[in-house]
Amino acid sequence: MTDDIRTDPSVFAARRAELARRMKQGVAIIPTAPERMRNRDSDYLYRYDSYFYYLTGFPEPEGVLLIVAGDKPRSILFCRDKNAERELWEGFRWGPEAARERFQIDEAASINALDTQAVKLLADQPSIHYAPGADAGWDARIMGWLNAVRAQSRAGVVAPAEIHDVRIALDEMRLHKDASEAATMRRAADISARAHIRAMQATRPGSMEYQIEAELLYEFRRHGAQFPAYWPIVAGGANACILHYRENDKKLAAGDLLLIDAGCELDGYASDITRTFPVSGKFSAEQRDIYELVLASQYAAIDTIKPGASWDAPHQAALKTLVQGFIDLGLCQGSVDKVIETEDYRRFYMHRTGHWLGLDVHDAGEYKIHGEWRALEPGMMLTVEPGCYIRPADNVPERFWNIGVRIEDDALVTADGCEIITHATPKSVQDIEALVGQG
Ligand code: GLY
Ligand code: MN
Ligand code: MN
Repeated sequence: MTDDIRTDPSVFAARRAELARRMKQGVAIIPTAPERMRNRDSDYLYRYDSYFYYLTGFPEPEGVLLIVAGDKPRSILFCRDKNAERELWEGFRWGPEAARERFQIDEAASINALDTQAVKLLADQPSIHYAPGADAGWDARIMGWLNAVRAQSRAGVVAPAEIHDVRIALDEMRLHKDASEAATMRRAADISARAHIRAMQATRPGSMEYQIEAELLYEFRRHGAQFPAYWPIVAGGANACILHYRENDKKLAAGDLLLIDAGCELDGYASDITRTFPVSGKFSAEQRDIYELVLASQYAAIDTIKPGASWDAPHQAALKTLVQGFIDLGLCQGSVDKVIETEDYRRFYMHRTGHWLGLDVHDAGEYKIHGEWRALEPGMMLTVEPGCYIRPADNVPERFWNIGVRIEDDALVTADGCEIITHATPKSVQDIEALVGQG
């Protein structure tokens, strides 16, 4: 625990300074996530809050960061004290003193001192900056601090008059990945690519979906990823048409496709990859038609990604390619414009083509500004994930029934285009057919 922190603490210090600069004045209050019980005496594996981690790199529960902005901004970390008894049962705790030094925070104090210290720090401050409504317990606690400051008004103390949502500044900061974030995300993407390759190699007719899930989790963990970034979707045959399928408990049949949407989380950062391949290693003609169409639509989307392009450009490019394909294959009738206007394509493609990616799988950051899709900028990280899901229906040729395909990669916007950080995951028909079942 003590020596596995890979990011230089000065990176987090620079983010705190930037937040203080954006706040201009007042006090920011950023608590980490609580521990949560899964069943009696047994917690879910702990995952810190993304905002808190972004600003501190501090991995323990019961941490709270306060930033006092102004001419000389300062940060104060409140964390658990050292405790020989608890450390015997649960492991190492930094304690305020060592945490302050290791994480390069101006000041640190015991979490037990938080309520008293916060009331002092908020006195005569113009504003507080936190995430209102994110957690009812924190809303109540912070209002309690405000009331305690107000109670001192006859002594001349002035209470903060403004409450700002700190997420507005932080989301914009998180949307633009710095060099250290891009490096971590490339490493996460490489691990996830290996996991997809392993899953392809391990797949055979008669395998259970959960056996393939196990191969993914094994590869994530083997390379040091702490978690899956979300629970893997391992969906054979018709299950691929259930967008958030998670049971992963059916048998894989020869002749079916297998859709795997899986990515690891490494040092807090998500990767998000989907691949679809034939269980028996060879696409049928219909499966191949749909697969090649989705792949072409993904390339069309990726082609649009560059600084200045609209967030919506990849989606529109993917959509046009898909719709033309649906018409060519007899799945939709009429012109491309008409099928898009009537949304007839939604029978087969009902989600958008991507999302921001970072500490959260669906990461922080607005998609529209003043009602308009925002423009892409270098440092933004997004997924590109078109798909096609054909459920049985009277007006759909039966040979296409239960084909579900999605292809998903992660793109970092660069100065003149984009870098596909998940590029090591095979996706051409030829590469896939050469790999499946060869483990
Ligand atoms: N795996 C979650 C997503 O693709 O959005
Ligand atoms: Mn995704
Ligand atoms: Mn995904």
